[in-house]
Amino acid sequence: MRTSQPQTIYLKDYKVPAFVVDHVDLRFELFEDGARVHSLLNVRRNPESDSTEKNLELDGDSLTLESIQLDGRTLDEGDYDNRGEKLIVPAVPDQFELAVVTWLEPQNNTRLEGLYKSSGMFCTQCEAQGFRCITYFPDRPDVMARFRTRVEADKAAYPVLLSNGNDVEKGDLENGRHYVTWEDPFPKPSYLFALVAGDLVEKRDSFRTMSGRDIDLRMYIEPRNAEKCDHALDSLKRAMRWDEEVYGREYDLDIFMIVAVDDFNMGAMENKGLNIFNSSCVLASQETATDMAFQRIESIVAHEYFHNWSGNRVTCRDWFQLSLKEGFTVFRDSQFSSDMGSPTVKRIEDAAMLRTAQFAEDAGPMAHPVRPESYMEITNFYTLTIYEKGCEVVGMIRTLLGDEMFRKGSDLYFERHDGQAVTTDDFVRAMEDASGRDLTQFRLWYEQAGTPELTIRDDFDQSSGVYRLSISQTIPDTPGQTNKKPQHIPFALGLLGAGGEPLPLTLTADEQDAPKERVLELTEAEQSFEFHGLDERPVPSLLRHFSAPVRVDYPWTREQLTFLMSNDVDGFNRWDAGQRLAIDVIRSLIGQGDSAPVDPGLIAAYRGLLADDSLDQALVAKMLQLPTEAYLIELAEKPEVQAIHQARERVLSTLANELRDDLMACYHRNTLSGVYEVTPESVARRSLRNTALAWLLHVNDDEARSLALAQYADADNMTDRMGALRALVGSDFEEDREATLDDFYQRFQKDPQVVEQWFSVQAASGRTGSLPQIQQLMQHPAFDWKNPNKIRSVIGAFAGQNLPAFHAEDGSGYRFLSEQVCRLDDSNPQIAARLVSPLTRWRKFAPVHGDQMKAALEKVSQKSGLSRDVYEVVHKSLA
Ligand code: ARG
Ligand code: ZN
Repeated sequence: MRTSQPQTIYLKDYKVPAFVVDHVDLRFELFEDGARVHSLLNVRRNPESDSTEKNLELDGDSLTLESIQLDGRTLDEGDYDNRGEKLIVPAVPDQFELAVVTWLEPQNNTRLEGLYKSSGMFCTQCEAQGFRCITYFPDRPDVMARFRTRVEADKAAYPVLLSNGNDVEKGDLENGRHYVTWEDPFPKPSYLFALVAGDLVEKRDSFRTMSGRDIDLRMYIEPRNAEKCDHALDSLKRAMRWDEEVYGREYDLDIFMIVAVDDFNMGAMENKGLNIFNSSCVLASQETATDMAFQRIESIVAHEYFHNWSGNRVTCRDWFQLSLKEGFTVFRDSQFSSDMGSPTVKRIEDAAMLRTAQFAEDAGPMAHPVRPESYMEITNFYTLTIYEKGCEVVGMIRTLLGDEMFRKGSDLYFERHDGQAVTTDDFVRAMEDASGRDLTQFRLWYEQAGTPELTIRDDFDQSSGVYRLSISQTIPDTPGQTNKKPQHIPFALGLLGAGGEPLPLTLTADEQDAPKERVLELTEAEQSFEFHGLDERPVPSLLRHFSAPVRVDYPWTREQLTFLMSNDVDGFNRWDAGQRLAIDVIRSLIGQGDSAPVDPGLIAAYRGLLADDSLDQALVAKMLQLPTEAYLIELAEKPEVQAIHQARERVLSTLANELRDDLMACYHRNTLSGVYEVTPESVARRSLRNTALAWLLHVNDDEARSLALAQYADADNMTDRMGALRALVGSDFEEDREATLDDFYQRFQKDPQVVEQWFSVQAASGRTGSLPQIQQLMQHPAFDWKNPNKIRSVIGAFAGQNLPAFHAEDGSGYRFLSEQVCRLDDSNPQIAARLVSPLTRWRKFAPVHGDQMKAALEKVSQKSGLSRDVYEVVHKSLA
């Protein structure tokens, strides 16, 4: 726990380490009442440092120091300084061995950082600064060492003992104990260290690499999960092959291991050769996981695997460079997912998430650049900006360079920096050197926070046939940053003729055979572009494929949007036009009461979507989903949550009533027979069918009710069972809803991953997630304060998805959240700091809400012994 006011750490203060560690020899003695860690470090003065520092400084957090020896000589308490989170050994020689013994209590570690226990097994999480909770060490990513790790434990209770690299020795010890020694030949930063000990089942598979080496793939799970590994192992093999084919990257160790643990703060972790996953991000079976979960697992398994090159072989110099590995790796995993499924759908999902959540982060008090300049607690910077905006930034480099040059750039980056700890600037420089392009202005994407806003106006001159687009860009102020410079924005567009045909984009009067899509490069605050040789005013298709993470303001008419929805050749923009049309209609209904008419144009457009079987059904499934409440709130200036909710519900029920027969037909047309498969085609069909069902139940259609009950009872997969349950939960059939929820729990109560889904479907819905119902869920025997997934699936789903309830006028939702954050702050500050985030947007709301949100935050700030994690978020939000 924090004892003094948290310090801010600045990028500008970075210094190369004064000492480096060549080798680390670790020995873990694991017991029920604690763990003893023996560490032997080979330390030497860093030749690359000009520091004359005489003292060795090591990081340590919540450790009990048992002994310390320098070159075999035991140091007494007066020989070193062990205060706060540092251990300082004065006047060390230029090269020496340091032996340190520490004592930890993994069984009491509720922060889930460092070494802890999860359902009886020992496991670790060291990124970003968990290794310092295990032993004293220069815990920074630019100190890379070779690790040898011996793990000792009771043989019956912990038959499986794992760490990074290859197992080189094993044997039995006295008192029923045994040991395994692991050696990792690749130097690595301490954040990539991992250890696992438990009574686990091993699933084996193998992979032959492009150079013909056979890699042992091993997955370790608790016995009850033995049937939930196939999908992860298949995903892993696809990812390994893909990285060879697309990036030329081959796996480098002989063994690759995946472990599933139930208690985990984040999704997964790319420890060298020993990836550790949150169970919910790796375990799946047809009966227990939805299509969405299957896809999420595939992408996370790939993400962690891809880190072996983008993160492990080439790592980050310091934590300000986090997006170097995360932005690039998210980019790689989204390319992979595109290649495995539907590229348009993947792009829609990524853009929707970015626009809903990352834009909100960029507009809030925690806004920060892709490469931040300062932080108090690095854990707070595992954000959508670092990950998803960082991914977009890499994607824009690819758009600007083209596929071929981008691959040359990535080859150069890996070759030049293999085995090094580098910066985002090194990444950009490799891209520049390989391609010959100047990315000086582009680097502003890493330095400036905030979402650029493009204002686009156009005019058409009939007499000359010239269509002119004027584009201006501004970037809003963010905390600590004002008067921003224009950024380099790749802007993809097309123009459509009256019949929907793509028109050539002729930039000069004499250009022949101009392309029908272009990427314009915006570099100035204001620019205009002229397109020649047009007979009539075209309809512009702007920012195709969401070619940059920006907001676009253009005065679309509903006619233009309807036209784009059915004519654009860019699937992404078809979807986007549909969203904009729906948003426009919903907005116009806000505060208009329950009888205000819904634009028949919208109903007709949706009817067209439902009827046309020739369309890409995966795209239709996405287009049928109305913009979420969260996105509508994000777009609004002073959002009135209840009114937005009502207007959206009004549109939903009108569409459902008007399109009843079309929805029924769509439901039946998309009923699949045969075996369950997770192909884009069948995923799309299940999604369409479940959307149709949810809409129909929304208006209390009795026939639909029978369909839902039958679908629930007969389903052979979780997507359909959950689709029916969700539809019932969203309906007014109260008895069916309760009975089905009960049945679902009875069926799946032994499976934590399903119980989490059961919690969140209730917590996220207005009908089952009122505050008293939430409090009841938290009394349920399956709820567990020590398990982050349970907290997310109840409290997180309530505050993040059940928006009318969270934003109740009386402020009860806000007070509730602030109480839970305070409660959690002592046991798991990382999760507490994430949970508080909905309150940080208080300035966005009208005072009736904003004042109460602010008061709830102030309540948190007054808690005594507030963690550094929560302190940073709350204080920045109140500043
Ligand atoms: N590097 C992990 C990933 O793949 C994230 C782990 C971060 N964990 C944490 N506790 N901060 O994205
Ligand atoms: Zn990652």
